[in-house]
Amino acid sequence: MKQSASSLSPSNPSGKRSARPVRSKDRFLVFGRPTIEEPEIAEVVDSLKSCWLGTGPKVARLEKDFAAYKGSPHAVAMHSCTAALHLSILAADLKPGDEVITTPLTFCATVNAILHAGATPVLADVDRTTMNLDPNRVEEAITPRTRAILPVHFAGRPCDMDALGDLAKRKDLVMIEDCAHAIETEYKGRKAGLFGDFGCFSFYATKNITTGEGGMVLVRDERKAARLKTLALHGMTKDAWKRFSDDGYKHYQVVELGFKYNMMDLQAAIGIHQLPRVESWLVRRNEIWRTYDRGFASLPIEIPAPEEKGTRHARHLYTLLVDEKRSGISRDAFLSAMTAQGIGVGVHYLSVPEHPYYREAFGWKPEAFPNAMEIGRRTVSVPLSAGITDEDAADVIAAVGSVLG
Ligand SMILES: Cc1ncc(COP(=O)(O)O)c(C=O)c1O
Repeated sequence: MKQSASSLSPSNPSGKRSARPVRSKDRFLVFGRPTIEEPEIAEVVDSLKSCWLGTGPKVARLEKDFAAYKGSPHAVAMHSCTAALHLSILAADLKPGDEVITTPLTFCATVNAILHAGATPVLADVDRTTMNLDPNRVEEAITPRTRAILPVHFAGRPCDMDALGDLAKRKDLVMIEDCAHAIETEYKGRKAGLFGDFGCFSFYATKNITTGEGGMVLVRDERKAARLKTLALHGMTKDAWKRFSDDGYKHYQVVELGFKYNMMDLQAAIGIHQLPRVESWLVRRNEIWRTYDRGFASLPIEIPAPEEKGTRHARHLYTLLVDEKRSGISRDAFLSAMTAQGIGVGVHYLSVPEHPYYREAFGWKPEAFPNAMEIGRRTVSVPLSAGITDEDAADVIAAVGSVLG
């Protein structure tokens, strides 16, 4: 196997395959490690000391700051992106039996949210290169019952929003964007999450910014924003969380059947200090991305396609594709070998129909979505957090080189 210059690392100075792992157990490089700094630690302590732990002023501040960052008229915080997707589908007034077209190359949460809302998920295959929903397959999947398209900007790469937007307009469909990977994503100067009626974000621990668990919905319509807030807190009237304030007790009314999906101040305390760093962290992940591109270029493994012109990739996941014939190792053996080399890895994702629940409940077969199936069976994500050092990145490249040895 050819060895690229960039696979030389302090831990593997000769670049040759050795019995010793690139990183020892005590230096294991964790996948998706969040960057937590002093200001968010102090802010969480401040919340604890103030005894205001639940939804309060820090959640309101994160909503305001996130709306300003994205240029959205409204932002509603949630406990997770799953909750954000679930309530967006409800707030879009979808009814049981209404069909929502989405991608098979996503986390189960995307499909589960559609099911929890009582709608029917319909899968359309992805493009083999971009790994995003193929608009031609979406159009083929439209039936008289189709009410919404739910694209996922996979890995941070924007979907083809011209084609999907045009389809939604022609067929009068609601657009709900799953932006779990796409905080910084842009398409032709427009920001992800603002194309359709609802944009749903995740602040889970591995995401580009985190609140531990957390989510946000961007929404244009003021009444829908108010409905999302109501639905997120048991269907209680707006601002019911103020009922224990020092202005005296306020009665609330339950006006519809809601959920317990509100974000806590304890979570927002982290997010309000993460958000101002989102752009500088993207600069860092861009550097790591380019280092990986160079380091993997001569290895027998497929690297992510360059981003499309006029788009901004959020660099959430760097995914390698392991083809057993070309790479000389199966994907699963590659995962184990990388772990043995001291490098944490992920799989994003086995296509949804690979999971028994969906096969049994809906009769879905992986083969019906061949691109998502192939990607899901070959993909490996390597660490891409903003906290990755040059030495870490060199170790990842050296480990991949060694495993493919
Ligand atoms: C594409 C996608 N959608 C939805 C979610 C759900 O996000 P959360 O964990 O915030 O509910 C995730 C989380 O990993 C995701 O990757």
